[in-house]
Amino acid sequence: MRLLLLLMALCAVTGCRNAGEEKYEMSDAQLHLTAQQAEGRHLFNRQCRQCHEAYTTTKRVSFSLAGLYSKPELPSGIPANDARVGEVIVHGKRMMPATSLDQQQLAALLAYLHTL
Ligand code: HEC
Repeated sequence: MRLLLLLMALCAVTGCRNAGEEKYEMSDAQLHLTAQQAEGRHLFNRQCRQCHEAYTTTKRVSFSLAGLYSKPELPSGIPANDARVGEVIVHGKRMMPATSLDQQQLAALLAYLHTL
């Protein structure tokens, strides 16, 4: 019973959300994003977030991109570098649709993904 009360109190304070969830509500400045990274964030929210989480590790249509570059490999086993990630973004991959970003937008998106 005491434990339950403690849990309820904790939920009231934290909203019982997944770790990382609060970052979605933070501004670009609060996240210390450069102008380029902020542009990438905007693109991500429009074109990627319906299928990939950025901050929580929850799986949506596909895996979360949190900590994408912190491991040497992506979940599929390909190296986590800009060349390979860029290829997936431009050409798509199986269930993932291709995107039509120009060079500047792609660079911004990759810069943002490095902040995750
Ligand atoms: C309609 C859903 C959808 C959208 C939108 C989408 N993706 Fe994906 N993404 C997927 C799926 C599904 C996979 C897994 C592809 C596979 O290997 O079968 C994937 C895979 C990936 C991978 C890794 C592939 C690997 O080899 O492990 C990256 C990186 C990625 N997506 C980034 C992005 C980015 C950045 C965007 C926005 C430009 C985006 N995705 C938009 C569904 C989506």
